[in-house]
Amino acid sequence: MILLTFILCILGLGLIYLVLVSLVFRKEIKATFERDPAATNFLEVLLTYPGLSAIIFYRLAHKLMQIHLPFFPRFISQFAKWLTGIEIHPGAMIGEGLFIDHGMGVVIGETSIIGNNVTLFQGVTLGGTGKERGKRHPTLGNNVVVGAGAKILGNVNIGDNVQIGANAVVIKDVPPNSTAVGIPGRIVKKEGKKIPGVSLDHTSLPDPIAQRLDRLQDEIDHIEGEIKDYHEKKRWNK
Ligand SMILES: CC(C)(COP(=O)(O)OP(=O)(O)OC[C@H]1O[C@@H](n2cnc3c(N)ncnc32)[C@H](O)[C@@H]1OP(=O)(O)O)[C@@H](O)C(=O)NCCC(=O)NCCS
Repeated sequence: MILLTFILCILGLGLIYLVLVSLVFRKEIKATFERDPAATNFLEVLLTYPGLSAIIFYRLAHKLMQIHLPFFPRFISQFAKWLTGIEIHPGAMIGEGLFIDHGMGVVIGETSIIGNNVTLFQGVTLGGTGKERGKRHPTLGNNVVVGAGAKILGNVNIGDNVQIGANAVVIKDVPPNSTAVGIPGRIVKKEGKKIPGVSLDHTSLPDPIAQRLDRLQDEIDHIEGEIKDYHEKKRWNK
């Protein structure tokens, strides 16, 4: 009888937790269904999506940080990192509808600000450059998508509706409605139009050492030609 009561209590608490999470995090759950074609089952999203779990822990840690409770915000954040592979500093400011896909390796720094309906893929870092103090992490607008492995470093502004390509390293502001890719991040599209003159053909980048060697070879050929001419003239003059 005691065991049955205990099991019923656990089930009841689990149910209350699920109902509360579905209500409080309805925008994040909606975002998961909208942006992940693999998401089809409500319970699966609630219980197995690391991005959602990380956001739930972050909201709790952030609230505790706001009331200046020591230790616990960082403890919760580190526990969430251990559980999900996603590290969100409790001091970060995050809007509604954040979707972190796959999650592993995502780092969101203390002074990051994230707008509404942002999508982050695995391996994204919103970090500092290591040289700044104070506000040293990026500010992301609304509807931003940051591709897998991309790093946005420093106190830079990423405008609304921006897409950052997978593996890009962005260290400068990106204006709204644009796409930035590469290392360092370059804007390749603005207002839906490609930016002319931006070459992403990394196999054809100029090689300054080879260019210098070519110039030296030309000079040697020229000098050898002059010496040859000199000797020819000398022979004819004899
Ligand atoms: C950048 C991205 C959002 C595409 O944006 P887009 O506005 O549709 O841009 P396009 O596809 O027209 O590409 C524009 C140019 O950038 C290049 N490009 C696109 N993505 C790139 C990337 N990640 N790195 C380097 N160059 C990239 C394209 O080859 C193209 O170059 P070109 O003009 O010389 O042909 C997309 O390529 C991307 O990286 N998405 C991230 C998705 C992700 O992380 N998925 C993980 C799932 S697990």
